[in-house]
Amino acid sequence: MLQIFTTRADIQQKIAQLKSAGKKVGFVATMGALHEGHLALISRSKADTDITVCSIFVNPTQFNDPKDLEHYPRPIEADIKKLKSVDCDMLFLPSVAEMYKEGETWHMDLGNLENILEGAFRPGHYQGVTQIVKKLFDIIQPDKAYFGQKDFQQVLVIKKMIKEFNLPVELVRCPTLRDEDGLAKSSRNVRLNNDEHEAALLLSKALLSIKNHNEYEDLKKLIEKAKDLLEASPLIKVEYLVVANGETLDEITALSQSKEPVALVAAKSGNTRLIDNMLL
Ligand code: PAJ
Repeated sequence: MLQIFTTRADIQQKIAQLKSAGKKVGFVATMGALHEGHLALISRSKADTDITVCSIFVNPTQFNDPKDLEHYPRPIEADIKKLKSVDCDMLFLPSVAEMYKEGETWHMDLGNLENILEGAFRPGHYQGVTQIVKKLFDIIQPDKAYFGQKDFQQVLVIKKMIKEFNLPVELVRCPTLRDEDGLAKSSRNVRLNNDEHEAALLLSKALLSIKNHNEYEDLKKLIEKAKDLLEASPLIKVEYLVVANGETLDEITALSQSKEPVALVAAKSGNTRLIDNMLL
């Protein structure tokens, strides 16, 4: 039975009871408009832990574009049905006032992660993400927290925060779920019209063209070809397409320079900004 909480005090009290009874808590943070990618994180948590908590909170501090925040989909009734369908135990659904005090200025040093790739294109975004995830961790006190590889840089940011604060939570990175046509599932995909959806397929195609490379091909040339593939569509505007060290996100010029090389892309299809990545 899904239990829904809207205040910190109520959910904290419930979780304290469960923890004192020795239950392990798994946590999935979301902004709602749930899709199979989110539900896979919940199923993973269900399999690993005793109690699974999902939060739905469209976090205003991580939106650098006010229009994006305003148009973010919020189908709460459908989300609740989906959570029930995967037998999620608890939903935390707070208001903005429940999560933020007026004039809050909490800031965390994220090093280079804040200035590169998503950090460069979305100023302030990761400050907003760490603010809210820290608050949610403080409330939920999870033993394990599940995050999607889809937001690769976000996983590194949260890892850094956990390390910096010595938080007693284990971060589990889960694979990206895709539509059959290869498009990474995203709450923003509902904004794509048919032509934009078709063009958006080029993101995963470009990444695959790098992943399925001939080992003798030069990485720089591979990236250029993948960019050309993307830019062949007039609907696509590439923000970045890079191959980086998966531990630091520093760009690399040869795959041998990293234990976990990853190709990452951000592009707009029409007006909708999309990101994707693949381990190489
Ligand atoms: P949101 O975009 O709703 O994503 C919630 C979680 O679902 C994130 O960990 C994200 O990486 C994961 N996810 C999204 N699409 C996925 C896919 N196709 N496959 C697998 N996992 C996927 O990320 C956020 O919200 C916010 O920044 C949040 C962490 C909740 C803080 O506000």
